[in-house]
Amino acid sequence: MTQVDVLLGLQWGDEGKGKIVDVLSPNYDLIARFQGGPNAGHTLEFDGKKFVLNTIPSGIFNDHSLNLIGNGVVIDPIILKRELDNLKLAGHDPVGLGKLVIARKAHLILPTHQLLDAANEQKMGAGKIGSTLKGIGPTYMDKTGRNGLRVGDTTMPDFKEKYNKLVEKHKEILSHYDFEYDLTEKESAFFEAIEFLKSIPHVDSEHLVNNYLKEDKKVLAEGAQGTLLDVDFGSYPFVTSSNTTTAGACTGLGIAPNKVGSVYGIFKAYCTRVGGGPFPTELDNEVGETLRKVGREFGATTGRARRCGWIDLPALKYAIMLNGVTSLIMMKADVLDGFDSIYACTHYEYAGETIDYMPFDIQTIKPTPILKEIKGWKSDLTKITSTSDIPAELADYLAFLEAELEVPIEFLSVGPDRNQTLKLK
Ligand code: GDP
Ligand code: IMO
Ligand code: MG
Repeated sequence: MTQVDVLLGLQWGDEGKGKIVDVLSPNYDLIARFQGGPNAGHTLEFDGKKFVLNTIPSGIFNDHSLNLIGNGVVIDPIILKRELDNLKLAGHDPVGLGKLVIARKAHLILPTHQLLDAANEQKMGAGKIGSTLKGIGPTYMDKTGRNGLRVGDTTMPDFKEKYNKLVEKHKEILSHYDFEYDLTEKESAFFEAIEFLKSIPHVDSEHLVNNYLKEDKKVLAEGAQGTLLDVDFGSYPFVTSSNTTTAGACTGLGIAPNKVGSVYGIFKAYCTRVGGGPFPTELDNEVGETLRKVGREFGATTGRARRCGWIDLPALKYAIMLNGVTSLIMMKADVLDGFDSIYACTHYEYAGETIDYMPFDIQTIKPTPILKEIKGWKSDLTKITSTSDIPAELADYLAFLEAELEVPIEFLSVGPDRNQTLKLK
């Protein structure tokens, strides 16, 4: 019997998951998203074309693999329909080709979930989370509050009744906010999209995935967001509302923990964060501006400028521990090409002590990063195609990271294109 390999982000999201899932997808029979929703924006580039996926797994461009939107995902039918319509316009029709299935148990994002997200963020003012406003938090709240609507419900005769009941509840909550809204347009788009959703095969994902394993087929679970946005272990409350860690792949797909195989942990050669919350190594200066410009660090979903900083090793070690990472993947090394020196945070000064872990509260008592200087490679990585082309300074940086993190770096990414990927091990 095979096991499920998991690929997930080790930082605050946008590490490059979409690109690497696309690169690895020819090795897999099934690619499955297990949590999050259209707050995700996963970018893929190949043959001079660029695609951003929000809900659809990033294995969609590989001819032979099936793609599953798992039960742990929250689905906005309007966004999913738009994604598939856009793909069709670009000549890709995963539904027509039978390459996309959806878990019956995945929860639906309603237009009122988005309104609640917006009303809540507006009320929080400066202390807001910086949500993508896709309705993620309110949808997961209804899931755990046992009020949610699921994909499977759309085919039941009482769907409209259940919908109205939940929307009434949302309207009652919204009446307590000073928040104006008009639902009419969104609601008709929603029901149109629900009809479309019914044309995509609905499956019991737990059986599908486990049957694949029994048949010795290969499965890759694709994470969204990043470990430091995990609702339990991230920088709470500045997190998303799902478990973004390996454990989330178990609950989000219906696989037992002993069915997890390799865990690919993906990170940038530096660090970014979008939205509010602590970020110890943030560079709120010209250097951060350079990282943002060279790395094109603007949100794939919202277009917001991403905050940039140096790589944070205490945070990465924490993420590796939580996920049981077996292989590392380093992204965007090329963004550091122009620097004479780069820096890695090895420890924090925190409340008068030197520590090498993420403490409980880094929002009010801010840690000061202790940085190690690393000599830059000052050469263009984007054209390199073989490990023998890796400059000595970059090889030193990789060796330093492997020694610190105690996990091998298996892949190195040197540009956004599918081909700009080097296998190191
Ligand atoms: P994801 O959410 O983890 O899939 O990542 P995003 O797609 O949100 O953000 C990653 C961004 O970096 C995208 O614009 C990618 O095209 C781009 N990218 C991925 N890998 C590399 C790389 O190695 N170098 C550069 N320069 N860009 C990359
Ligand atoms: P991918 O999969 C980066 C951030 C938001 C906000 C917080 C909560 O592309 O890596 P939410 O919309 O979930 O209520 O927002 O989480 N966030 C992400 N940041 N990449 C993502 O996804 C993100 N999804 C959510 O910016 O700070
Ligand atoms: Mg992204």
